[in-house]
Amino acid sequence: MKTDPAENPLDRLPPLLNRDLDQNLCVCNEVVKMDIINAIVNGATTVAEIKKRTYATDGIGCCTRQVERLIECLCSPDVKTNT
Ligand code: FES
Repeated sequence: MKTDPAENPLDRLPPLLNRDLDQNLCVCNEVVKMDIINAIVNGATTVAEIKKRTYATDGIGCCTRQVERLIECLCSPDVKTNT
């Protein structure tokens, strides 16, 4: 993913997703949200790539939708919603 070095990727997240960054997003495998965000910023743009790099979604898959949402927000240009 190309990002402007001056841009903070966290600014692309809606407020609901831009908090609890140090908390586990994937509780099955104890992967904190910030690790998933970093993986996306560093080029993991699919759930499969996130799984490979961080093990998030590799439990029973209950965090998959949240990971998809992070990918959507961080990879889509100018998408910022309040969901
Ligand atoms: S919380 Fe991530 S797979 Fe269950």
